Amino acid sequence: MGRKILLDKIDIPGILGFDVYRNNGGYSAVEKALKTMSPDQVLDEVKKSGIRGRGGAGFPAGMKWSFLDRSTNNPRYLICNADESEPGTFKDRYLMEKLPHLLIEGLIVSSYALGANTCFIYIRGEFKYLVGILEKAIFEARKNGFIGKNILSSGYSLDIYVHPGAGAYICGEETALIESLEGKRGNPRIKPPFPASKGLYQCPTVVNNVETLASIGPIIIMGGEEYAKIGTGKSTGTKLISASGHINQPGVYEIEMGISVEDFIYLDEYCGGIRGSKKLKAIVAGGSSVPVLPENLVFKTAKNETRLMTYESLAEGGFESGTMLGSGGLIVYDEDACMVRNTWNFSRFYHHESCGQCSPCREGTGWMEKVLYRIEHGQGRIEDIDLLVNISKNIEGNTICPLGDAAAWPVASAIRHFREEFEFHVKHPEKIKNKDHGNIQKLFVP
Ligand SMILES: Cc1cc2nc3c(=O)[nH]c(=O)nc-3n(C[C@H](O)[C@H](O)[C@H](O)COP(=O)(O)O)c2cc1C
Repeated sequence: MGRKILLDKIDIPGILGFDVYRNNGGYSAVEKALKTMSPDQVLDEVKKSGIRGRGGAGFPAGMKWSFLDRSTNNPRYLICNADESEPGTFKDRYLMEKLPHLLIEGLIVSSYALGANTCFIYIRGEFKYLVGILEKAIFEARKNGFIGKNILSSGYSLDIYVHPGAGAYICGEETALIESLEGKRGNPRIKPPFPASKGLYQCPTVVNNVETLASIGPIIIMGGEEYAKIGTGKSTGTKLISASGHINQPGVYEIEMGISVEDFIYLDEYCGGIRGSKKLKAIVAGGSSVPVLPENLVFKTAKNETRLMTYESLAEGGFESGTMLGSGGLIVYDEDACMVRNTWNFSRFYHHESCGQCSPCREGTGWMEKVLYRIEHGQGRIEDIDLLVNISKNIEGNTICPLGDAAAWPVASAIRHFREEFEFHVKHPEKIKNKDHGNIQKLFVP
């Protein structure tokens, strides 16, 4: 069994409530930080832990915190990004639903380190059911003196607010989130300036993911160096993985970074193998935005090294033969999955969610969706396949925010690794039409 740091107390009855959480060591990170450490000492521990942001990009949290502009008298803000809308990623909602106090504790310690007296949880609009859970946890923490004025007589004061969004994926992008929080349409901002200097209301702001911030309490308790001993290389600590697709045991798992992808997919304590004992066809490792990996590159890299569940190992080989850990949304496809249909499905999502600000993304996502639709529905042309590659190249790197890249990579990688399947769709429309696309692999077999 791997070590658990975030989910270790999840099975304790009543852990949702303050008293049980507190009686099981809860809020001791707040006590330790506010009573015995300066904000800079907390920051140092976070730096030493090496924890990288769990929201997708994997940027080191300690480094991000150290960039916060401390030179002005303007208020500083901490924003917890709880917008979680990436297809295949559902770990933050699980954390908030089951362990709300773990997040609140992390927010208090993090806000203290940053010198922020106001913290916002920006939560995806569809997670309405979580708003009450979080607000109750905030109410209880306040009642017990962990939120509010002069917390634990430390002289430090903090307010935490929950702000529901309106269900837009783009509002997970940190500057779109900030715009939305300010009451405007959630369009990403041009950077620089970065939120660290001009974020919410043009004040210094840190935006971190739910899982990143929930990890801060345990880091303070165990110490940054101890945390950094878990994992391998620059992938320290534990990571929540949302596992879905054709596996026996879909769910949210906490892993020690560095276990092999093969163990994660096949061991009973994790995914428990492929459903119906079928063969593996491909995986998406980090949520729908990352390149798809075909079976021959899932367990071994192109250099024949064991593929590990780490930022570095999953990225090994670049876009040619690697992918990304992203937000840890692992989708598994068995031998019967249709990669064209899957790519079309992803493209529909990105087209729908594009904010429309940048032409390459606004137009390109729509074109990709339409072209993929016709290939999938037996009306494709052979030149459509290269057309898709061309459109994806024209989106990638040409937009204000990475939603464009997120839309382009799944398409480009699916064609790179499964071109023959796209060609099959074009060449054999009669076999594609009116067929159950769950059985695409069988169509290949003469
Ligand atoms: C289109 C888009 C959607 C995003 N959605 C989320 C999200 O739902 N949650 C999240 O934490 N980060 C999301 N991100 C990443 C954020 O912009 C930001 O990098 C992250 O919140 C930083 O937190 P971290 O450093 O703790 O990972 C998204 C980025 C993009 C481009």
